[in-house]
Amino acid sequence: MTTIGASSVGDGPSAAGAPGQAAAAGQSADDDAAARRSDAMTGVSSGLPEGPDPLDQPACRGSVGRESHRSRLQRIGNSPRWSGSGFRNTHPISLQVNPFDVRMAADFAFGGKRRAPKGTLPLLRDGAVRLQGPPPRGLRLTWLGHSTVLIEIDGVRLLTDPVFGLRASPVSFAGPRRYHPVPLELDELGRIDAILLSHDHYDHLCAPTWRRLLRGACPGWSGQVVTALGVGAHLERLGVAPSQICELDWSEGAFVEAAGARVEVIATPSQHFSGRSATDRNRTLWAGLAIVGPRHRVFFSGDTGATPKHAEIGRDLGPFDVAMFEIGAWNPAWGAVHLGPARAFEAFASMGARALLPIHWATFDLALHHWSEPAETLRLLADAAGAEAAVWQPQIGGSVSPGAVADTPWWRAVP
Ligand SMILES: [Fe+2]
Repeated sequence: MTTIGASSVGDGPSAAGAPGQAAAAGQSADDDAAARRSDAMTGVSSGLPEGPDPLDQPACRGSVGRESHRSRLQRIGNSPRWSGSGFRNTHPISLQVNPFDVRMAADFAFGGKRRAPKGTLPLLRDGAVRLQGPPPRGLRLTWLGHSTVLIEIDGVRLLTDPVFGLRASPVSFAGPRRYHPVPLELDELGRIDAILLSHDHYDHLCAPTWRRLLRGACPGWSGQVVTALGVGAHLERLGVAPSQICELDWSEGAFVEAAGARVEVIATPSQHFSGRSATDRNRTLWAGLAIVGPRHRVFFSGDTGATPKHAEIGRDLGPFDVAMFEIGAWNPAWGAVHLGPARAFEAFASMGARALLPIHWATFDLALHHWSEPAETLRLLADAAGAEAAVWQPQIGGSVSPGAVADTPWWRAVP
């Protein structure tokens, strides 16, 4: 049975220096962090609390999140990220479309780039067999396309941003359609101790997938979800029980326990936005997620632009065995909210992770670039950087583990 419990200050790996260590070394700092959070969580019901800018507080100090025991609206109103009308980024961004951006308009109309592959993508569909045994070294990541990754870490099995639907769209008959079938069906995933959901956009929160999950399409799923503050409201409307949802503000964490194993999931700052309609912009939070186990640590970027917080996250919660950063669906004009391959490579370097697994590409046409440009650019950057840059680029459906090499540019064979 899976249980999810709130991390308590000083009781988790996030408060310590190395995986598996007790929190004694970080106790004092975390008491301070807890005091700051306690200050920030009292008083006003909306707007920012008095005192130093809470957005300047260090990234990722352990705290508590368990939605079923608190009012969601109260927690949102008290969040340091809440402006009174929506969540805000650490660094303000503008999402206004410039109607005079002739270059982007021309790119859209006449760019001539192959934004979706013409050929069939070579999927690895043997995952059901490959994943039967535990990972030999305690860590294995299986990329299922876009930002859906099955993470096996220190005995716990997690699934990120599950998208098994046909389209990344609010409607079934239109919108970006996936290039490829899913390499592994929901009923082939095996045990899933918790689903991790970074934010509410359609290419991450796929309603048809959740409806299938709730109908029992993934018999191994515990029913537990860890997500960013406010996103649970969408899930409840789809039928997920409130008691199954754990919502986290940035720097808050929750333990996922299963089969005698335990990891901590900590929500971390990202530069993005949210919304599923024209009227709910930024009403729910977006987040990266650090997963900290007794032996291994991994980072999942969600969707994000570049931010110095990635270096802080690496310093405070690392060292990470692997960081998953988004590389696709980007544009030079969208740099505030999407990394693209070059900035993802920089973020990976700033974080000091041992390996990079690129995500958020190869499944949906959501931008203006050639479908494989992000992967090709990243490969060239990794090759130029030499052996110290471990960049894993498995085929869709493929698995990667520490010590393995996955640097074959498989996309070059697809027209
Ligand atoms: Fe996305």
